[in-house]
Amino acid sequence: MKILVLYYSFTGNNKYLANKIAKKLNADLSCIEPRFNVLPFLILSSMTKISFGIKPIKNQIAQYDAVVVCGPIWAGQLISPVYNFIKKYKKDIQMLHFATSCGSTDEIKETRFGYAKSFKYIQKLIGNKCGVREAFPITLVVPEDKKKNDEAVMKTRLSDENFKGDIELRLEHFTQKVIQDTCNK
Ligand SMILES: Cc1cc2nc3c(=O)[nH]c(=O)nc-3n(C[C@H](O)[C@H](O)[C@H](O)COP(=O)(O)O)c2cc1C
Repeated sequence: MKILVLYYSFTGNNKYLANKIAKKLNADLSCIEPRFNVLPFLILSSMTKISFGIKPIKNQIAQYDAVVVCGPIWAGQLISPVYNFIKKYKKDIQMLHFATSCGSTDEIKETRFGYAKSFKYIQKLIGNKCGVREAFPITLVVPEDKKKNDEAVMKTRLSDENFKGDIELRLEHFTQKVIQDTCNK
């Protein structure tokens, strides 16, 4: 089984997560590069879905049994580099799984800034090629006394020191499900 892990990351969390997933799945790893990597522009293009696109992906997407995409949630939206990747390579993608290191927790996933809306949007974009979608909220690695401190949560970066316990377990379940679903497709 051939799997490609692709990521877009502005501050490093999704890059870290993508590396972890690629290692577990023994997959190839590459990044999605927007033509303009400027934060306000990317937020605006994520909200309006108007964008200047992404640079071509060097891997041959059609050769992979599945692609796992990692990227953050911004302003409750699926970010434009991920959206653009799906739109551009939809025909070549055999199966798409999605993982996000995001700020929203499981408890607020259905709210305005929660991750659930992005999961539904991916399903809409890719249809029956949609595989596993999983969130890895930053709060899973934030100490109990700082979980309600938004600034501390936003400043937290995934690392070998904090990627332990519940988040590690979630990664284990995610990668197992990716393998199962890709085999059963
Ligand atoms: C401008 C901005 C807006 C964000 N909005 C949301 C949001 O609406 N929902 C959410 O779950 N996380 C939100 N976040 C948190 C990011 O998803 C989170 O910090 C993520 O881990 C960053 O990933 P990266 O380091 O790979 O860029 C936001 C972060 C930024 C910088």
